[in-house]
Amino acid sequence: MMPKRTNLKRCSNLALAIRENVELKPFNSLQLPSSARWFCEISSTEALLEALEYAHRMSIPVIAIGGGTNLVLLSDLEALVLRPAIKGIKVDGNLVTAGAGESWHGFVEHCLNLQRYGLENLALIPGTVGAAPVQNIGAYGVELDQFVERVVAVHTGTLQSRVFSRDDCRFDYRDSRFKAEQDWIITEVSFRLRESEMPVADYPGIRAWLDEQGLKVSSRNVFRAVTSIRLAKLPDPENTPNAGSFFKNPLVSTAEAERLAARFPGIPVFPAAEEVALQKLSAAWLIDHAGLKGRSAGRFSVSEQHALVLVNDGGGSAANLLELIALIRETVHDHFGIQLEPEPRFYP
Ligand code: EPU
Repeated sequence: MMPKRTNLKRCSNLALAIRENVELKPFNSLQLPSSARWFCEISSTEALLEALEYAHRMSIPVIAIGGGTNLVLLSDLEALVLRPAIKGIKVDGNLVTAGAGESWHGFVEHCLNLQRYGLENLALIPGTVGAAPVQNIGAYGVELDQFVERVVAVHTGTLQSRVFSRDDCRFDYRDSRFKAEQDWIITEVSFRLRESEMPVADYPGIRAWLDEQGLKVSSRNVFRAVTSIRLAKLPDPENTPNAGSFFKNPLVSTAEAERLAARFPGIPVFPAAEEVALQKLSAAWLIDHAGLKGRSAGRFSVSEQHALVLVNDGGGSAANLLELIALIRETVHDHFGIQLEPEPRFYP
C-alpha cells in the first residue's frame, strides 16, 4: 500500500520532499494504525541536515523510524518522521561500512559474498543497518557489538555529526545509548569483520541442523542454518505482522535462578554473558509455561509458533496490544514472580 501524498513541501536546493499526514502502517512491522503529521525519506546526510533544519524552523519534534521492525506506535505522531534510506557499502580491508538505510539481511549476505565473516549468525533479522546498533541485535550466539568499530550519528538538537567508538555506544543486552538518548539519528555503521572464517555454531539447534543436512561447519553453512531455523521458528513479518521478540530475556540473581529451578523443573537458565553475577531466563519459556501461547486481546495474540512473538491478527489496535502486554506481564509475574520488560521502542 502506498502512503497517501498530500501537500508536498519542497525545501531549498536539495528538493527535500516532506509529505503531510502520511499513513505509517506500511512502515511499522506490527502494522499498527498511525500517521505522521510530517514524513520524509532521507537518502543522504545532507538531506538529513536539511530536514532537521526545517524541523527547527517549524519547531516540530523529530522521530527516526529505521526499518520499523522494533517499533510500537501508540497513536498518531505529531512530529516529522524521518525514514533513513542512506545507502552504500564500502570495504577497506576488514573494515566494512554501510549506510543506515541498507537492509540488514542484505548487508549480512553481501559481507559473506565479500568473504568478510562474523555477521552470519545475525542473518534474517528484520530491519536496517542503522537500527541494528540501537538495540544491539543478537542471535544464535553472536551480538552485534562484538563487530562494531564505529557508529556515525547526527544529533537532532545541535545538528552536529559525531563518530562513536564501540565503547561510546554503551552496548548492553538489547540496549545501547541510542535507545536511551533518542536524539541521535544514525547515518552510517562500520564493522571490523574477519577475513578468515571462524564460524560460531555452538547455539543449540545450529549444530543439529548442520548434522541433519550433512553439512560441515562453515560461515556459509551457519548462514544457511540460521536462515532456515528462523524461517521455521519465527513468524515472517511479511505475512504475519510482528516485531520479533517482544520481551527481553530477564536477568536474575543466581539465588533467584536456583529458587526458580527448584520450583519449576526444566526451566531454562543460562549464564548471562553481559553480567557475570546474573543468570538469564527465557522469556519465551515463561510465557509458554504460564499458559499464554495463543492467548489474545482483540486482534493481537501470542504467536502459536513462538511465545515471545506478539502478532497482529489483522486490524489490531494499540489498545489491543497494550491489553495483551499487560495480560502477559501480570500472568508471568503471578506465576513466576518475574517482571518482563518489552524490547521494542514505543512512540509517542
Ligand atoms: N521456548 C518455549 N516456547 C516457545 C518458544 C521457545 O518454551 O514458544 C523456549 C525454548 O525451548 C528455549 C527457550 O525458550 O528453551 C529460548 O528460545 P529461543 O532459542 O527461540 O530463543 P529466545 O531466547 O526466545 C533469543 C532472542 C532472539 C534470537 C534467539 C536466537 C531475545 C529477546 N531474543 O530468543 O532475538 O533470534 O534468541 O538466538 O534475546 C529478537 O530479538 O527479536 C529476536 C528474535
